[in-house]
Amino acid sequence: MQEQLSSILARAKAEFPSLRTRPEFEAAKARFVGPNGELTALMKQMGSVPKEQRPAFGKLINETKTQIQALLDATLQNIDGLELASRLGPAVDPSLPSPDGGPGTWHPLTQVREETCRILRKVGFAVADGPEVETEFYCFDALNTPLDHPSRDAKDTFYFPDTVRFGNVSRKVDGEKYLLRTHTSSVQIRTMLRQPPPIRIVSPGRTFRRDTTDATHSANFHQLECLYVDRNVTVRDLKALLDHLFAALLGPGTKTRFRPHYFGYTEPSFEVDLSARHLPKVNKEWIEIGGCGMVDPSVFEAVGYDPEVWTGYAFGMGLERLAMMLYGIDDIRYFYQNDLRFLRQFA
Ligand code: DAH
Repeated sequence: MQEQLSSILARAKAEFPSLRTRPEFEAAKARFVGPNGELTALMKQMGSVPKEQRPAFGKLINETKTQIQALLDATLQNIDGLELASRLGPAVDPSLPSPDGGPGTWHPLTQVREETCRILRKVGFAVADGPEVETEFYCFDALNTPLDHPSRDAKDTFYFPDTVRFGNVSRKVDGEKYLLRTHTSSVQIRTMLRQPPPIRIVSPGRTFRRDTTDATHSANFHQLECLYVDRNVTVRDLKALLDHLFAALLGPGTKTRFRPHYFGYTEPSFEVDLSARHLPKVNKEWIEIGGCGMVDPSVFEAVGYDPEVWTGYAFGMGLERLAMMLYGIDDIRYFYQNDLRFLRQFA
């Protein structure tokens, strides 16, 4: 009996390493430990073994079984590795020079972002950053957006489950929900809480809304935010900045127009329209490009600035929309498809 067991083990050891595929493996497994396998057949003979030898025999069988199982496990791991390697194809050496021709170029959205920031930096704005994962305080509460405001609805905003924690995103209020920021206006709050006035920042970045994707909507898009806080800031300063920005960006023939609107964080608030005779998308009618206004006193209170002393303006716009106007792009989805035929046009 012992000899039979050693022979089974020896054959398993000799045979298993040469198995290359799953079907081969399954067949070999069945031959040894399957219901009709050799080891199983030996176990069935247990009844005919004299009683006093049974414990020793049982022990031997179990040991053999364990060893065969270990061999099977190792074999399967080996086959998994072979399968993966065949799916991955020949090995790649990432240290070799790229086979692609020439250096890359900036994505059109990056180009518009950089150009806008360059113009704003020239007139004193510093680039500020904020997290894409935000909390209700920074995205809504401190911006005077009440709990029942539609933009806070779970239909419009991506919230994280209560159990999720982001150690690198500070919360202001215990237990408040994390979310993906719906606008870059949250950076206004983070900046003002970090430093005293005066403030002059521009903050471009990624934003998220629960929109269904179509030619003009994307659940992930980009905005650019400006905030200016100082003494005696007026709507004229705001209008002058936007006139300058869009003329510098789109050309001297560009005009801007304010339309009264409502935002909780500014008072008065406006929507900004653009018109530019030389740009095909905006040469016939006014096109809305963003929102703006004078910072609401309640926002200053939320960050601990004295609203009797400080005044300011804020402005936010979508970068995709701007790029679409500037370059005459008619579908927002082109920005995200990484199609070289599209991207090369901006090289
Ligand atoms: N946050 C607004 C939006 O996403 C845009 C905006 C409006 C930004 C008014 C501002 C502002 O800073 O003052 O539609």
